[in-house]
Amino acid sequence: MTFENLLTETDNNILTITINRSDKLNALNRNTVKEIGQAIKNAGSDNAIKAIIITGSGQKAFAAGADITELVVLSVEEGKILSKEGQDVYRSIETCPKPVVAAVNGFALGAGCELSMACHIRIASENAKFGQPEVNLGLIAGYGGTQRLIQYVGKTKALELHMTGDLINAEQALKLGLVNYVVPQDQLILKCVELLEKIKTKSPKAITSVINTINAYFDNNTIGFATEIEEFGKCIATQDFKEGTSAFIEKRKAEFVGK
Ligand code: COA
Repeated sequence: MTFENLLTETDNNILTITINRSDKLNALNRNTVKEIGQAIKNAGSDNAIKAIIITGSGQKAFAAGADITELVVLSVEEGKILSKEGQDVYRSIETCPKPVVAAVNGFALGAGCELSMACHIRIASENAKFGQPEVNLGLIAGYGGTQRLIQYVGKTKALELHMTGDLINAEQALKLGLVNYVVPQDQLILKCVELLEKIKTKSPKAITSVINTINAYFDNNTIGFATEIEEFGKCIATQDFKEGTSAFIEKRKAEFVGK
């Protein structure tokens, strides 16, 4: 199957999905997120695929967030639908019965950071940067990031990162427990493959059981994800959101008024 915004390649039973919008720092427009969902679904039922790597094209970005130019035009209801769609695709990655590794090759911001957090393992190149900068747009994360960041770094840092919009580098992400390994960029895919080759020698059924069981620890948190959708929608109704997104497009600093 071919995709508009993804490249896919299978080698030695490992599928690599590459987000292919490098001129936009692999920003995740709606269609790209849908395509990722489709690629994961296909891989889940394909016996020839034993493991999956998700990465971004180019050397600068894994994914620099949701495509801001698409967000600007949304109504509150459309915003909530977008958030739900994103959450559902990311949940399908998290619950994929085969191991999914994010090869974070640069900026992993907003929906890009959320995408990496939906994967079972994150390996970052030394130049990677992580963050949830949605507040700079008068918005919050909408694809599960408010819930998953807490799982990896705890409430203390999750609140700080979501409220400041600050970016952290790969070493900081490693110290916080957000990523599993940091490696030089030219060794990123090699390291992912090495780890997956080890996992591939184990019983696939046992690996699926590991995924299901560890996910189950967090599974009673439907209220958190539902609240994220509601609050994401509320933000879209604000004057601050219009100001934040306009400021990004016009390449200037936003002036928020709290309305
Ligand atoms: N949505 C849409 N387009 C985006 C984007 C996004 N999330 N992130 C980057 N782009 C586009 C830029 O608009 C620019 O397009 P242009 O060449 O047509 O002007 C191109 O990608 C390159 O980005 P640019 O900002 O020029 O690169 P930079 O190196 O100066 O800055 C970032 C890199 C990641 C710091 C900056 O692009 C950024 O802040 N992006 C938005 C991050 C964000 O807020 N994500 C959450 C979205 S909800």
